[in-house]
Amino acid sequence: MSSSSTKLGAHPVVVARNLKQVYKISRGFMRTADHLQAVNDVSFTVDPGKTLAVVGESGCGKSTLARMVSLIETPTSGDLTLGGVDVMKANTNERKALRRTTQLVFQNPFGSLNPRKKIGDILESPLEINTALDKGARAEQARAMLALVGLRPEHFDRYPHMFSGGQRQRIAIARALMLKPALIVADEPVSALDVSIQAQVLNLLTDLQQELGLAYLFISHDLGVVRHIAHDVLVMYLGNAVEQGEKQTIFEQPLHPYTQALLASTPGIVGTGASKKRIVLSGELPSPLNPPAGCAFSTRCPHVAAQCQAERPVLRTLAGRQVACHLAEQFIQPV
Ligand SMILES: Nc1ncnc2c1ncn2[C@@H]1O[C@H](COP(=O)(O)OP(=O)(O)OP(=O)(O)O)[C@@H](O)[C@H]1O
Ligand code: SF4
Ligand SMILES: [Mg+2]
Repeated sequence: MSSSSTKLGAHPVVVARNLKQVYKISRGFMRTADHLQAVNDVSFTVDPGKTLAVVGESGCGKSTLARMVSLIETPTSGDLTLGGVDVMKANTNERKALRRTTQLVFQNPFGSLNPRKKIGDILESPLEINTALDKGARAEQARAMLALVGLRPEHFDRYPHMFSGGQRQRIAIARALMLKPALIVADEPVSALDVSIQAQVLNLLTDLQQELGLAYLFISHDLGVVRHIAHDVLVMYLGNAVEQGEKQTIFEQPLHPYTQALLASTPGIVGTGASKKRIVLSGELPSPLNPPAGCAFSTRCPHVAAQCQAERPVLRTLAGRQVACHLAEQFIQPV
């Protein structure tokens, strides 16, 4: 595989089809194995320069999806293509190359930056491991990257503890960009930051995307954050995609009761039609080890009908997005 084949070109950055991740869990004295479906048949595409936001409550499978796309975990089944390369068929060298083009940014920049290393060394490290550049060239690229993420030249020789949370996230982003990736997988990258700092980091991500043509798989439980950064949205519930499509379509007229509830509980989002109604998310999230029969959301859905408990709704195209709800037609509002 030539290095250019892992770059952008005409291919979508990510094509995921029916991705599934099942964990085997040993329980109890007899160590009987249970199967936990963390991600179930999830499909999506991310194009160059675009952001797909994955949203949903804790445990719905967002990070599992992130780990599969960033090649930390192999899917139990499904197809995954990164920059036109079939990940499931890639050999060791191809996977190594793909790991360079897909970089991760985590929620906690404290944990992901080595406290004993100066920022300059942290930024140079990916170049030292993956390229033949000499020290001078590495330092030059690291200094240029510092400037690109809005940090100052004197920060080069400082240690992570000398920075604020927002600055540390800028450093983590800079490190992720050192190998010129096509895709950044960002798992709750602003969740640990104050709201005012969140906006600055989101603006930085948007600027970098425009400047570098980056694609983002942006994971968040907060639709208020997603509104600022996403082009497309994928809403997950208990491992399933329940609604997905363009951000504007979904925010203006969510058709899945779970999306409606998420939007209604997000301060500052004024939707139209169904999203205006205050749908309160009540009831406990079911255990993914024992999901409800039929529709996974049926135990908490205010619209639940007999059909919902008997039959699992599949994703289908309706009113310009994909939605998995038997009654979705009922929620379409006249324009
Ligand atoms: N390595 C693992 N082994 C067994 N179960 C796992 C493993 N990793 C995740 N899970 C389970 O898979 C489900 C999805 O977890 P995941 O971490 O992907 O959720 P999430 O949406 O990222 O949640 P959060 O918002 O809390 O980060 C959860 O029920 C979790 O307990
Ligand atoms: S299929 Fe039924 S239970 Fe599930 S979200 Fe739709 S209305 Fe609610
Ligand atoms: Mg997570």
